[in-house]
Amino acid sequence: MPSVFTAASAADTRAHAARFAADTHAGMVLRLRGDLGAGKTTWVQGLVAGLGSDETVTSPTFSLLHEYRAGRLTVFHWDLYRLGADTDWSLLDLPEHLPGAGLTVVEWAERYPHPFPKKNCWDINLTVSGDERRKIEIFHHE
Ligand SMILES: Nc1ncnc2c1ncn2[C@@H]1O[C@H](COP(=O)(O)OP(=O)(O)OP(=O)(O)O)[C@@H](O)[C@H]1O
Ligand SMILES: [Mg+2]
Repeated sequence: MPSVFTAASAADTRAHAARFAADTHAGMVLRLRGDLGAGKTTWVQGLVAGLGSDETVTSPTFSLLHEYRAGRLTVFHWDLYRLGADTDWSLLDLPEHLPGAGLTVVEWAERYPHPFPKKNCWDINLTVSGDERRKIEIFHHE
């Protein structure tokens, strides 16, 4: 059963992620799904803040990967949006981060054509349900 939360604002989404941060550990993989603007990067902002970092989290849309030294964990924040079928995935070191030394967070994980490790993998789905309302569902794959 997924856990379901309704966020009424971006601040609410960040707070939800900050609570989730308390239960994270190295080697976890979080796949963030949701339409453009659903709030994936906003959720990662809350996650990194919840880990005790005051670093500014921005979208890695063009750089593919941002790394944050977030207190007890390094967060590897990927955004695969721009990648497509012609991507040479061997050029990316994504597999080397799975399950890496830190916490791997992947926006647009559905672009990645290879299986993710089942263990320690979580899906976080954001759905727009109003101007500022978002449904956030968390599924854990054991
Ligand atoms: N409840 C909410 N949760 C998250 N973001 C919200 C919420 N309400 C409004 N917003 C706004 O929606 C936008 C979400 O942008 P964000 O970059 O987080 O989306 P994204 O899913 O990462 O998009 P992309 O697919 O382009 O990477 C922000 O401008 C944010 O302020
Ligand atoms: Mg984003």
